[in-house]
Amino acid sequence: MGKNEVRKLVITIDGPAGAGKSTVARIVANKMGLPYLDTGAIYRAVTLKLIEDGITPDETERITAALENISVSLSGGKVSVNGRDVTAEIRRPAIDAAVSSFSALRPVRDALIGFQREQASEGIVADGRDMGTVVFPDADLKIFLTAEAEERARRRYKERVERGETADYEEILRYVNERDLYDMNREIAPLRPALGCVILDSTKMTIEEVTDVIVSLARELGAGKES
Ligand code: DC
Repeated sequence: MGKNEVRKLVITIDGPAGAGKSTVARIVANKMGLPYLDTGAIYRAVTLKLIEDGITPDETERITAALENISVSLSGGKVSVNGRDVTAEIRRPAIDAAVSSFSALRPVRDALIGFQREQASEGIVADGRDMGTVVFPDADLKIFLTAEAEERARRRYKERVERGETADYEEILRYVNERDLYDMNREIAPLRPALGCVILDSTKMTIEEVTDVIVSLARELGAGKES
């Protein structure tokens, strides 16, 4: 590699709901001059479309057929399905409630793996559940970002309130715990720390502290734009 050539780093950030993955990944991507990939948004967008088509998670054949006609695109922080902007809709509680069941299914995961890898041609900071274990097992830097469930629920609660939505802390906590259990125990691509990953517990860390740790680890690998 030439002296001035910037390496196209692949950085993965996996972890449970509400650990701060997407906020952290977005900042790290910005600081490193890399694109950001929110894979949870892709699973959410597919879930939204399947629900709209009246399909339930047990209808494997219908799901496989429907996936042929679902096209997700990501651009400038917006998520679209078949050309329709669904950025706000995919954050609704109805999607929260259904996304784990759909994303546990083999046809859904198989349909999305290639698409996710294609996004990394210029390097990437990708966040999700199986980025370091399945999608980018050869990533340059793998982070497993976690936090205590109560803290993660508090963060989700705050986000909702700030968006002007009604929120119930106890309900969010119950849901955070349920979704983690489901994501960790599913058969395909379960949520777990990847081989060779760095585990960061953000319970008592600020966003800035977490991003600083990741950016310095990435810079040690010799890449990224100067800020
Ligand atoms: O990060 P999030 O809350 O937007 O993710 C929503 C759901 O999508 C999560 O419960 C599990 C699923 N998901 C997944 O299975 N694999 C990923 N790489 C990202 C998300």
